[in-house]
Amino acid sequence: MDSGGKQVTLQLMLAVGAAVIGSLQFGYNTGVINAPQKIIEEFYNKTWIARYNEPIPDTTLTSLWSLSVAIFSVGGIFGSFSVGLFVNRLGRKNSMLIANVLAFISAALMGFSKLAGSFEMLIIGRLVVGLYSGLSTGFVPMYVGEIAPTALRGALGTLHQLGIVIGILMAQVFGLESILGSSSLWPVLLGFTVIPAVVQCALLPFCPESPRFLLINKNEENKAKSVLKKLRGVTDVSADMQEMKEESRQMMREKKVTILELFRSPLYRQPIFIAIMLQLSQQLSGINAVFYYSTRIFEKAGVSQPVYATIGAGVVNTAFTVVSLFVVERAGRRSLHLIGLLGMAGSAILMTIAMALLEKYNEMSYVSIVAIFSFVAFFEIGPGPIPWFIVAELFSQGPRPSAFAVAGFSNWSANFIVGMCFQYVEKQCGPYVFVIFTVLLLVFFVFTYFKVPETKGRTFDEISAGFRQTSGGAAEKYSPEEMNSLGADSPL
Ligand code: GLC
Repeated sequence: MDSGGKQVTLQLMLAVGAAVIGSLQFGYNTGVINAPQKIIEEFYNKTWIARYNEPIPDTTLTSLWSLSVAIFSVGGIFGSFSVGLFVNRLGRKNSMLIANVLAFISAALMGFSKLAGSFEMLIIGRLVVGLYSGLSTGFVPMYVGEIAPTALRGALGTLHQLGIVIGILMAQVFGLESILGSSSLWPVLLGFTVIPAVVQCALLPFCPESPRFLLINKNEENKAKSVLKKLRGVTDVSADMQEMKEESRQMMREKKVTILELFRSPLYRQPIFIAIMLQLSQQLSGINAVFYYSTRIFEKAGVSQPVYATIGAGVVNTAFTVVSLFVVERAGRRSLHLIGLLGMAGSAILMTIAMALLEKYNEMSYVSIVAIFSFVAFFEIGPGPIPWFIVAELFSQGPRPSAFAVAGFSNWSANFIVGMCFQYVEKQCGPYVFVIFTVLLLVFFVFTYFKVPETKGRTFDEISAGFRQTSGGAAEKYSPEEMNSLGADSPL
């Protein structure tokens, strides 16, 4: 069934573009503390000396730094879990707009922390921008998924991830000591968060509200229709309207779905389990061990210019997200996720070999660069972008906000665990730390192979109908192949 074709209109690009500034903000703050770690640690030390007349103990510094890194994900956990409180009351667009209050507060806290001689301000600023980012990881994929035509939902959904990776790359480049990562300019580096916030606040008022929200939640049919016409650039939007009304009828039967009901109802148990596992596969792949700590990893691997290797990882990261953007509507979500996980596992093994043999062979530092680059490349083929947007696809309008809350919560909790524990575990395991990720990656590969359906080219309603069918009492257990064949008559 075609719903709106493949046309990319100006209005659609503006709306998606404004939304993914939220993703950029998330990426920027993910990557920003990597390169200037030593310089900011020096600030912690000086502040400590000024207060207590003695240098900061090593273990305290490690703890404070791990906290500064990981508290961002604590904000993310709470932010993502609160998504449902906003989107149905305020709408998708206004939720994104209002969240910027948090971005402004955090920019001020982090930007002025040096002036105030307070590392606490920096840490609280990271918590607050984490809240913003957590909200964004729900708002953005939800909004984009709801305004995108079916045939472009994967490609446009990947733009969320593209925003994130461009944010990470910008942070890595700006973080160079010769740009903003110096002992005098790092507060500007962190306070930069204010700029995307200003731009997003300027653009969002010109963007439409999600037509699905207007029709299904607000029952404003005419508004929904006129928004759709602008988004699609055509006058006949009856196919889209028809599909949304079908979803709406379904929702009348469902009413509002709370988080608890997601787990209780046999209708949702399977998709929510899949959504959670996909989020875990993204984070427990170990990707953020790289994006939080790559400069340190490269240093240990004997790379002479670790900061540049980190930027290289950011470039590879961005390039392969673009690759995924172009292939996701052709290859499908499931196969790309599988390829990505397997490739990451292979790269993690290579990384382990390189680290283990470093003492014997100097060249291993190059191998470690290749390993990390390919680890990142495979990540962006599937496990990076897909888990974010597939949540919108696995659920219809009723359960969607709760599903985003649960998925976001799982993602950010796992992000927190990796951010907080990596340095400690690495101290214990030395060069073998990536073995843990290899094992996890293989487990997620097997899970995806057996449990994750293909959603490419199918409307939201068709996808949830697939789950309804398979959860129905008498129906035999659903198999991914079955779901795939359901999607085989897709417009692509
Ligand atoms: C994904 C992850 C994020 C990670 C990024 C790396 O968006 O959610 O945690 O830092 O990819 O590109």
